[in-house]
Amino acid sequence: MALTISLTDKVALVTGGSRGIGRDVARCLAEAGAHVVIASRKADELERSAAELSGLPGRVLPIPCHVGREEQLAALVDATESQLGPVDILVNNAATNIGQGDSLRTDVSMLDKMIDVNVKSAFRLVHRVVPGMMERGGGSIVNMVSISGLEPQAGGLLYSFTKAGLIMLTRSWAREFGPKGVRVNAIAPGLIKTDFSAYYWQDGERQAELVGDQPLPRLGQPEDIGPAAAFLCSDLASFITGQVLVIDGGALA
Ligand SMILES: NC(=O)c1ccc[n+]([C@@H]2O[C@H](COP(=O)([O-])OP(=O)(O)OC[C@H]3O[C@@H](n4cnc5c(N)ncnc54)[C@H](OP(=O)(O)O)[C@@H]3O)[C@@H](O)[C@H]2O)c1
Repeated sequence: MALTISLTDKVALVTGGSRGIGRDVARCLAEAGAHVVIASRKADELERSAAELSGLPGRVLPIPCHVGREEQLAALVDATESQLGPVDILVNNAATNIGQGDSLRTDVSMLDKMIDVNVKSAFRLVHRVVPGMMERGGGSIVNMVSISGLEPQAGGLLYSFTKAGLIMLTRSWAREFGPKGVRVNAIAPGLIKTDFSAYYWQDGERQAELVGDQPLPRLGQPEDIGPAAAFLCSDLASFITGQVLVIDGGALA
């Protein structure tokens, strides 16, 4: 097998693809030849990113979607299929993080929102695309989780809980769908420099405290994640399923 990641003419759907980690995942998939839908709420940012990612071997198509809304997810899959074809690759990357701090100050509406955006979105998209993948004999799903789903994050109960849930969905789906050729893996980033994690890296002292003790003592970048996602989606990873690939500069080690 050639040692290059080739996803020529595969159709990929990346939620939260307008910036940060999702945008770099989309870039890597399109560089490997996949046609990629990027989906997120803000249409202007999506359009800008799609324009910046034009000129790669694969097309990048922006489709606005709030992943917490079931009807918008249905419309997203319909639009992807009508414009590019059936989905071969699904990257469940969009997430939110509310209710940080003292968990006794959170309420069940925050828990509901976290579950809607971080977990149910993946569940709903899997239900929409996996039957087709199985019929066609294959597909690949990557769920963006977090090291906070493996170890409790201080002040981040809701976030850790939803990411841990997505990890168990990943492993359970891998068992269920593997015999039909659909692989399901997760990536668990450590601290990566994006808008999402700005609180942790904008303050130099806080950043140094967090990454200084890592075996690789630097802040991660979206470009540390995108290539790994493309690898997991490719035939080079055809014997890999049900795994959580930790990319954290060794923080958990
Ligand atoms: N950065 C880190 O240190 C880190 C560490 C571990 C795990 N992660 C995980 O990596 C993933 C990506 O995070 P990131 O750091 O790249 O964040 P980011 O730069 O803030 O990007 C988040 C993306 O998700 C979209 N999004 C947010 N809420 C959405 C919703 N309800 N519906 C649709 N799209 C939505 C955003 O666009 P709109 O705002 O326009 O919707 C954006 O495209 C998340 O799953 C996060 O939990 C990040």
